[in-house]
Amino acid sequence: MKTLISLTLNGRQRDDAVPGNMLLVDYLRESVGLTGTKIGCDGGECGCCTVLIDDQPRHACLILAAVCHGAKVETIEALEAGGRLSAIQRGFHEKLGAQCGFCTPGMVMAAEGLLRANPDPDEAAIRTGLAANICRCTGYVKIIESVQQAARELAR
Ligand code: FES
Ligand code: FES
Repeated sequence: MKTLISLTLNGRQRDDAVPGNMLLVDYLRESVGLTGTKIGCDGGECGCCTVLIDDQPRHACLILAAVCHGAKVETIEALEAGGRLSAIQRGFHEKLGAQCGFCTPGMVMAAEGLLRANPDPDEAAIRTGLAANICRCTGYVKIIESVQQAARELAR
């Protein structure tokens, strides 16, 4: 049984028929072809699948696509514009916030949501904002520095 959903995905209106039990992460990756959103644990533990739904970071592996009817959904693919990285992507690049990179799309989207809600977060707020995202490589210091650099750039 399929459900018709209408949503705004990365700034573009879409209408799709999706199985009622299809997860948002599978809709994004398999139906739409946006593979920037990663699947790590597939169970709400790692944050690799983080996307923004109505500007809030959410785990796409825990949400049904059908629930996103009427919502604004943004994935990592939405951030660059005209070949130019977003401030947060640039922060991760310049401050070496990514190593293997598998957690990075989710980290970047969580950071994007954080800075939209709080453009001037202190370190504690950044740690709290990224608490639902796990990185096995970086030790988090470089990730925090990446977000701090992005916040400084956005404040200019
Ligand atoms: S894949 Fe969604 S939280 Fe790990
Ligand atoms: S950079 Fe490898 S898991 Fe975070």
